[in-house]
Amino acid sequence: MTKEKNFEEKLTAWALKHLNEIFAVLRIIKPNIVFKGNALVTRFEDVTEILDRDWIFQVPYAEKMRKVTDGGNFFLGMQNTEQYTRDVSNMRIAVRREDIDTIVKPFVDNTSTEIVNAASGKIDVIQQLTRVVPTRLIGEYFGTPGWNEAEFADAATIMFQYLFYPDDPKVEEKALNAAMQTRNYLDQTIAERKKNPTDKDDVLGRCLKLQQIGTPGMKDTDIRNNLIGLIIGAIPTTSKCAAVTLNHLFNNPELLVQAQQAARVDDDAQLIQFVQESLRLNPFAAGIQRICAEDYTVAKGTLRSTKIQKGARVLAATQSAMMDGRKIKNPKQFQLDRPSYSYMHFGFGLHTCFGQYINLIQIPGIIKAVLKQNSLRRIADMAVEEPFPISLEITYDS
Ligand code: HEM
Repeated sequence: MTKEKNFEEKLTAWALKHLNEIFAVLRIIKPNIVFKGNALVTRFEDVTEILDRDWIFQVPYAEKMRKVTDGGNFFLGMQNTEQYTRDVSNMRIAVRREDIDTIVKPFVDNTSTEIVNAASGKIDVIQQLTRVVPTRLIGEYFGTPGWNEAEFADAATIMFQYLFYPDDPKVEEKALNAAMQTRNYLDQTIAERKKNPTDKDDVLGRCLKLQQIGTPGMKDTDIRNNLIGLIIGAIPTTSKCAAVTLNHLFNNPELLVQAQQAARVDDDAQLIQFVQESLRLNPFAAGIQRICAEDYTVAKGTLRSTKIQKGARVLAATQSAMMDGRKIKNPKQFQLDRPSYSYMHFGFGLHTCFGQYINLIQIPGIIKAVLKQNSLRRIADMAVEEPFPISLEITYDS
């Protein structure tokens, strides 16, 4: 390795560790930066300005999405087109908000409780719980349990890393193999379900009903591509958010006690706030990427006004926005009474997370099963293999 490369890697590692401090300085001295064809936007107001203008700041994921599906795009990779509206609308008919109370919540609560009880006092929260619950939810609710539970979760995770993190040929190779295996599995599952229809009311069954009545955008490959996108979006994200929340509570024993009290009386609304605040202080990602489609001046008419050139890659730093004291009072403090606009974990604007309402039930449901236990103790620090945590071992009274 050359000296410069070594230095660059060390600098990046240092910067990643100190992002909150770096963003805090930038928000004051240079809130919007343009550098070598890239732009970074750090204040709350400007981050929302970028994410609100989807026709100028466009999603950059289409090329990789097409490799994952071996052809068609998935709606997160689309601009605001007719096809985007069609595909999101179709999937919203299949993944309904009313399912949250009738299907999602009972399934998540029961599955999480069963797993924690069966582990008899010692569990690796990530390997045995936070990865497993969303994978099983997809099995039950979508009708696609995967060819093997652990491999299915691994496949979703590596495809996520490929789609949303910087290019890495090793990651690409693994992700494209995982994509092929996932496509084959879903093709088979769809074909079998059509051959042997069942009465089970799940997302795949609903998609096939939409197909039967001739709904545009619901051919077998369309259904498969929509499902791949949702599966990738659902598993690694949920796992990381639940693990990070628990880890934050273990780092702050007085908060852990409060959260346990909320869990024991099933105060789900308060548990949502514990999740939101823990993630605000330990965010899922630094920000959201966009490509600038035409020259644009952000924060026009202010001292921080900055011209972003067509073609620039832009990072709308949601992590920084959620710490911006101009919008978020006492941002370094953990407070359970913040309004919901304080949070951008699930994005902002056109592409706001499709699973946002599921998330606010599933993540609290997973952590609640742990928080209800007595004598909770973390055995070792949470282990992380960037970009995902891989192990968090805890003990409790069995
Ligand atoms: C639990 C943690 C989750 C986090 C932190 C998360 C985060 C996000 C973020 C930040 C975006 C916006 C991306 C962008 O604008 O570039 C997004 C979009 C999306 N998420 Fe999630 N997500 C989570 C869970 C889920 C789940 C459970 C599902 C599926 C049921 C899902 C499906 C999607 C889809 C399909 C989009 C694209 C929406 C669109 O293009 O309109 N996500 N998510």
